[in-house]
Amino acid sequence: MVHEPLIADAFGRRFPYLRLSLTDKCNFRCSYCLPNGYAKNKNEEDDLSLLEITRMVEAFAGLGVWKIRLTGGEPTIRSDFLDIAARISSLSGIQKLAFTTNGYKLVERAQDYYNAGLRAINISIDSLKPEQFKTITGHDRLLEIMDGLEACFAAGFSTVKINTVLLKGLNDTELDDFIRFVDDKPVSLRFIELMRTGNNQDYFKRHHLSGSVISNRLLSLGWHVQAREDGAGPAVEFYHPKSVGKIGLIAPYSKDFCTSCNRLRVSSKGALHLCLFGEGGYSLRHLLQQDEQKQELQDQIVSLMVYKKSSHFLHEGNSGATPHLASIGG
Ligand code: 5AD
Ligand code: SF4
Repeated sequence: MVHEPLIADAFGRRFPYLRLSLTDKCNFRCSYCLPNGYAKNKNEEDDLSLLEITRMVEAFAGLGVWKIRLTGGEPTIRSDFLDIAARISSLSGIQKLAFTTNGYKLVERAQDYYNAGLRAINISIDSLKPEQFKTITGHDRLLEIMDGLEACFAAGFSTVKINTVLLKGLNDTELDDFIRFVDDKPVSLRFIELMRTGNNQDYFKRHHLSGSVISNRLLSLGWHVQAREDGAGPAVEFYHPKSVGKIGLIAPYSKDFCTSCNRLRVSSKGALHLCLFGEGGYSLRHLLQQDEQKQELQDQIVSLMVYKKSSHFLHEGNSGATPHLASIGG
């Protein structure tokens, strides 16, 4: 049974969905995110342990959260990734466990992921051309990731999504190829509009492409906007009667994007982030040290909700304190 989420903010939004970053680290070098690869900060704290993660999720589950997404950085590079997934998926109240991955070693690992209780996967694929894929991610792995996609279907995943950031002057000429790509595949491809972060200001100016270019193209090709389902997040979904796959558009610069916000985020160090583009997080780690702290932790989460703002302030050029999305989970 889906219970009514108990966490709400001052604007009447409810939060059944938690995005939990397992690590800031990533083995890819996406040019908009970590162009020089992951660099460790001096005196960096350890990532949350399996036990701390379990306590965090139990507290949120008790507050009505029923969907969890494991994200990063690249969550699968944690050596205990499968243990974490298996533990969370077995917790009472958690109905859907999803994760986001760059697809590294997916061919070999898809079945293990499924067996650990993961049911929904988002794979980042920014180009369908091997050379361009390599330019954007720093890895010549497109063909391997395509095999990984097939492996997910074979493993039994019920939800397979692809994330694509369309970039002016890099892969924007592939828009129609991406749309055709989902013709015969049971996937939902999400175009994510490039977001400005602390570290990618010049890159943003050069490569940002407005989401309206994508929606206009979809509409002109006979795609329709799907009516929003209750509880759906900020993506706008499109369907086409002749296409097996769907297309989604995540356009954070569009008006009203934040009205349908249904998610909270926790960093790999245990800080609650109320918005991807907020000014830092509220550490909860000190409340993850003993099982007996559960009530205190839940009270703290509920009381922090008053600080959740109505919207991000990206329009004003304010990208908050987020240096890159690997630091808090895209
Ligand atoms: N803008 C838009 N999308 C981004 N991602 C990472 N950084 C950015 C950014 N600055 C995407 C990745 C991945 C997802 C988790 O977030 O491509 O698909
Ligand atoms: Fe890694 Fe994802 Fe950032 Fe790419 S976008 S560098 S895969 S964290």
